[in-house]
Amino acid sequence: MLKINVTFYYHLIGIIAAGLLFVFSSVVNANDAEQMYTQCATCHGDKGQGNALLKSPALAGLSAEYITRQLNNFSSGVRGSHEKDALGKQMLAISQSLDKNKDVPVLSKYIESLPVANQSQEISGDLKNGSRYYQAKCGACHSGKAEGNPAFKAPKLAGQNIDYLRRQMQNFVSGIRGTHAEDKLGRQMAMMAKTTSGKELEDILHFIAQQK
Ligand code: HEC
Ligand code: HEC
Repeated sequence: MLKINVTFYYHLIGIIAAGLLFVFSSVVNANDAEQMYTQCATCHGDKGQGNALLKSPALAGLSAEYITRQLNNFSSGVRGSHEKDALGKQMLAISQSLDKNKDVPVLSKYIESLPVANQSQEISGDLKNGSRYYQAKCGACHSGKAEGNPAFKAPKLAGQNIDYLRRQMQNFVSGIRGTHAEDKLGRQMAMMAKTTSGKELEDILHFIAQQK
């Protein structure tokens, strides 16, 4: 009887110690991640809300999976190595300073956990047309309210800066993004980007700007 009790207490102490260690290490990790993110905050904002002046997109709201993919795309030159991609080149340089196996997963998880600020954007357009075109051409992958769909690896577009989205559409059309031999998903999106332009695209962007 006594023996059982002793082993039981040993187990209990073990479990408590492991629990404390877990809590402690996750606090340390959270601080590490926050610290690491300060180098990104200069351009992407302290809460990942983006910075229109610096043409830096919002990161809050994006999935860790998408952020990881883009950081790895930048560092390997799949994105940002086109000679005309001045803004992508900025990110390429930064991403190459990150450790792919250590920093990138920690940063991506941290950014995914940031709360999304509701940023309203005034952009003109026809909501009814925009909604119709969006559902016909984009919704199947990016979901009905532009919230993104991990199954298709399509990122959230809602809440993103509209000038950034417009520039990415132009980049896909002109081949600045999505033409690298290893950029399968970018190629897919480039094909889609070529199906719309002008007033129709503005209406689509207007619809996206209304989503949360
Ligand atoms: C000097 C300013 C600057 C800094 C610092 C910076 N970024 Fe960026 N980042 C940009 C710009 C500009 C873009 C948009 C590039 C483009 O137009 O294709 C971008 C794009 C991105 C994207 C792609 C977003 C999307 O929707 O596809 C990710 C992810 C990203 N940055 C993460 C980071 C992380 C993580 C850090 C910190 C380690 C960081 N950035 C630091 C300027 C910066
Ligand atoms: C076949 C699926 C599919 C369809 C349809 C589609 N997209 Fe995409 N889109 C993607 C994928 C996948 C990505 C991510 C590409 C990458 O990883 O670089 C993407 C990326 C984007 C980006 C870049 C976002 C960022 O944060 O940098 C924009 C903007 C975009 N899509 C807009 C649209 C619009 C507007 C439409 C409709 C005209 C559309 N997409 C239709 C799959 C799709």
